[in-house]
Amino acid sequence: MSSVHLPSFYQRILDNLSDAVLLFDKSLCLIYINMTGEMLFAVSARQVLGLRARSLFLANDPMIERDLNRVLESGVSFTKRNVVFALTLHPITVNLAVTPLTEDKAPPAVLVQLQQVDRHLRISMEEQLLSQQNAARMLLRGLAHEIKNPLGGLRGAAQLLDRELADDEQREYTKIIIEESDRLQSLVDRMLGPNKPPQKNLLNIHRVLERVRQLVQVEARAGVSIVRDYDPSIPSLYGDSDQLIQAILNIVRNAAQAVGEQGKITICTRIQRQVTIGHQRNKLAVKIDVIDDGPGIAPDIMGQIFYPMVTGRAEGTGLGLSIAQSLINQHGGLVECSSSPGNTVFSIFLPLE
Ligand SMILES: Nc1ncnc2c1ncn2[C@@H]1O[C@H](COP(=O)(O)OP(=O)(O)OP(=O)(O)O)[C@@H](O)[C@H]1O
Ligand SMILES: [Mg+2]
Repeated sequence: MSSVHLPSFYQRILDNLSDAVLLFDKSLCLIYINMTGEMLFAVSARQVLGLRARSLFLANDPMIERDLNRVLESGVSFTKRNVVFALTLHPITVNLAVTPLTEDKAPPAVLVQLQQVDRHLRISMEEQLLSQQNAARMLLRGLAHEIKNPLGGLRGAAQLLDRELADDEQREYTKIIIEESDRLQSLVDRMLGPNKPPQKNLLNIHRVLERVRQLVQVEARAGVSIVRDYDPSIPSLYGDSDQLIQAILNIVRNAAQAVGEQGKITICTRIQRQVTIGHQRNKLAVKIDVIDDGPGIAPDIMGQIFYPMVTGRAEGTGLGLSIAQSLINQHGGLVECSSSPGNTVFSIFLPLE
């Protein structure tokens, strides 16, 4: 037996389970792996079907074959909790369940289920962080709102005074009041953040990205190149084109500012399957990576960059990422970031359903 063929209905059920499901024959060769399993091991079924258990689990669990054999021989299932695997880039923690399948007619096999437990921990941490960032944003909105009204009055009064004054030298002062009020007004407007719900239409994400690329290319230094690595097969998605441009522009603009005189920014799109965003599991999502080879995010602000008013730039207001995050959240999406000198990656996930 080299692999198991299932009716498509059962195949769909297995692929939609949040647990990885693997089936080994009696010589401990892999005969089935579901989609969650492929993602967990970062392999495709085609590459690994037929492989021995020990080469699939590699150094993660040298005892795996002994365990599986014991289950096959004894017919008794076993579970191991909180096993740490270094299968992907980050170590993951799983609960392992091994069950013998011994029926009269079918050849004996052993079923292995892996339930990723740290995913639940990660989701609740993400939620806590998002709600803190939302609270900071609400506080700032409240403050901006309080400033907005008196500011209007101040500007109006300066304008009236400006008309009354005959002396040009004195009118210099009213001019300063008006100009500074306008500057404050635009800051307050940004602090208030996106104020309308998204007007969603079917859109091509690459149109949005091309617009962003053109805008940033114009304002960036001559030595900055923006490279495209798009997957053209990505289907259309529902979104507010202006808001997505704004959100992604804030992220790509940061990258251009970070690289300075010379550098490379890559905008990469890929399809992702079975992505968990908050509590929602999405069958399909688009992942947009904005990668730059600049100096990286300063370690002292790394954990706070999505909070409003956190900035590492002298002329920055620290609102760009907070606005980007709230726009992307309104689209049911998520932004993540990882950074080291020479390699900063902002990943935007948007659901495709
Ligand atoms: N690609 C990046 N490389 C290095 N640091 C970054 C990068 N993106 C963001 N940062 C850091 O995160 C900070 C916050 O970014 P954010 O866009 O929120 O605010 P800002 O750029 O400072 O100001 P604003 O966008 O409001 O003009 C930046 O000041 C910068 O220090
Ligand atoms: Mg910015």
